[in-house]
Amino acid sequence: MKHRVRVWDLPTRLFHWLLASAVIGMFVTGYLGALDWHMRLGCVVLTLLLFRGLWGVLGGHWSRFANFYPSPRRLWNLLRAKREEGPEHLGHKPLGALSVWAMLLVLLAQVVSGLMSDDDIAYAGPWARHVPEAVTYGMTNYHAAIGQWLLLALLLLHVGAILFYWLAKKENLIAPMLHGDKLPTLTSTPSPPSRDDFWTRLLALGLLLACVAVSGWLTGFAT
Ligand code: HEM
Ligand code: HEM
Repeated sequence: MKHRVRVWDLPTRLFHWLLASAVIGMFVTGYLGALDWHMRLGCVVLTLLLFRGLWGVLGGHWSRFANFYPSPRRLWNLLRAKREEGPEHLGHKPLGALSVWAMLLVLLAQVVSGLMSDDDIAYAGPWARHVPEAVTYGMTNYHAAIGQWLLLALLLLHVGAILFYWLAKKENLIAPMLHGDKLPTLTSTPSPPSRDDFWTRLLALGLLLACVAVSGWLTGFAT
């Protein structure tokens, strides 16, 4: 009999759906010109990214960066369509891993550039007045003319790839991001589950609170 294996722990799942909602909110508030809310929500995105950075080191097995690092060996195996030997890899697939890294980095760049952006009318990110004008200019330009489109392209690719897996490959990746579990298809060597119990969730809550404080300090809204 096949056993379900916990792949995405609760903190990773909450992180994902909160991030997705907040990022959609960033586009909506950016385009509506609701920049008060845009900047408040920007702090939420920053907090979530800081949390994911820590959870990539301290989180459940499949959420750890070390387990979906796009190493040359993993990419080479992917090119040769060769399965990894040993336990089945249940986390992000190698190409998916690349897109996750790209999304996290481009999101971080969008947040950092936003912190230094200035609309030259009424709103400026909290770092804008602390950096040289040329930097503010460059960051505003990146934020509005490059970063948002780069991010949008990656997000379309992200959702497109997930729909492709669902419709063409009959593999539903969305359900595990909701309930956390996957059914391994290879039964020879069991894959390790991600730890996801009261204590790991408590740890995640503690880390999240620390990230809220750091994000508040970084953006100056906490004072
Ligand atoms: C603005 C919207 C979104 C953002 C910023 C986003 C971002 C991300 C990130 C960063 C990850 C990696 C999770 C981790 O390891 O921390 C991820 C994975 C995932 N996302 Fe999204 N996402 C968005 C929208 C969506 C939507 C709408 C869906 C559903 C259709 C979705 C389904 C998934 C799934 C299924 C995975 C796991 C993929 C796998 O098995 O490798 N995402 N997403
Ligand atoms: C995921 C993160 C973010 C996304 C997707 C995003 C997206 C956007 C969009 C779509 C616009 C409108 C650009 C236009 O009119 O063409 C905008 C403008 C702006 N954003 Fe963000 N933003 C993000 C994070 C932030 C953060 C963290 C801050 C600061 C705390 C920030 C500050 C600003 C400012 C000041 C503007 C006005 C700049 C201008 O008029 O050119 N953004 N952003």
